Amino acid sequence: MRQNRPIPFKISTLDSLGQGVSKLGERITFIPKTLPGEEGEAIVQAEKKGVAFARMNSLSVSSSDRVKPVCPHFDVCPSCHYLHTSYEKELATKKENFLNLFRKLPLPEIKVVPAVRRTGYRNRVQLHYDTKIRKIGMLDARTQEIINIPQCLIGVPEVSKAIQNLYADEQWLKLAPKNTPRGHVEIYYKDQATELSWNSSYAQGGFTQVFGEMNALLHQEIANWFGNEKSSVLDLFAGNGNLTNNLPYSERLCVDIYNAAKESDFYSCSLYEPGALEKVSTLLKKKNLSPQVLILDPPRSGLTDLKEWLTELNPARVAYVSCDPHTLVRDLLKVTDYRPTGAVLLDFFPSTFHFESLIFLERK
Ligand SMILES: C[S@@+](CC[C@H](N)C(=O)[O-])C[C@H]1O[C@@H](n2cnc3c(N)ncnc32)[C@H](O)[C@@H]1O
Repeated sequence: MRQNRPIPFKISTLDSLGQGVSKLGERITFIPKTLPGEEGEAIVQAEKKGVAFARMNSLSVSSSDRVKPVCPHFDVCPSCHYLHTSYEKELATKKENFLNLFRKLPLPEIKVVPAVRRTGYRNRVQLHYDTKIRKIGMLDARTQEIINIPQCLIGVPEVSKAIQNLYADEQWLKLAPKNTPRGHVEIYYKDQATELSWNSSYAQGGFTQVFGEMNALLHQEIANWFGNEKSSVLDLFAGNGNLTNNLPYSERLCVDIYNAAKESDFYSCSLYEPGALEKVSTLLKKKNLSPQVLILDPPRSGLTDLKEWLTELNPARVAYVSCDPHTLVRDLLKVTDYRPTGAVLLDFFPSTFHFESLIFLERK
């Protein structure tokens, strides 16, 4: 199939990335920002392994679930996926995707925690820039194009304002580091101040959850499950200890590659390096600690050898928090000695296809 060729489409369903799936013609085509039942014309942008990726060009049949997006950049920006439909429809789609992805696991009934707001929530937003072409904005992974988004609505008001200021009179060109013509900037709001961080992996002291109020709801879910009994806890991919700081634990060990906190219950270690399990296990023995509760919150890549960690450490209960349900399911399917006792979908990233999953496990 030639690229940039117009093709007809008819959307049958949405996939887990929020894209419409069309089975019309020679191959399956994925078309963002469409809805089931919609028909029209799309332009093919790329092809891979017998499937095509296209952008919508025009609609001849429009879904009754379609609404006018609140964001002026929605049609061209790759970052939000659902602003062309209602929040109810977005959440229902996410729940359907969750159930579909987790269908091989014997999950109890899933609890859905809706977002408290659909826009104006991110305390940090990352933009890509290229001084040679004088562009800053969201990077479209399909085309590698930088998309201008001066009126972006996803950030908290302070972040949105800072984004507008960057665009005003091309202010960002004066601020971007001269020795790095292409890169990224993180605009973040923390402790009542908005700051810019150019080309570093983490702004201001390590990872922080992007949506404050949803983070508080995640704490609540974990606290309810943890209970008031003073259990000992191992917090893997702990960041600043966000998930365990307020739990009534008896003892704790937090492990993360990024060692922001210097307290004695924080240990800096790459959990993806060979020998990481041995290192953590040796440290636990040295501290005379055998954690009854394991809480883990890895990056999108998950923890492929979770089963080995559970076999070695033998916690009675586990809470696995994940921003990528695909790797979460992959890791849990290998675990046979634990059964799921709870499943929560927290809508941490409204307007996008992303969500946070929380699965509780108990040793059989
Ligand atoms: C999704 S964040 C969760 C952080 C924390 N639980 C929280 O709620 O704020 C994932 C964490 O994994 C850490 N991380 C990334 N790669 C790692 C590695 N190779 N070894 C250990 N930690 C890693 C990051 O520094 C980050 O703090």
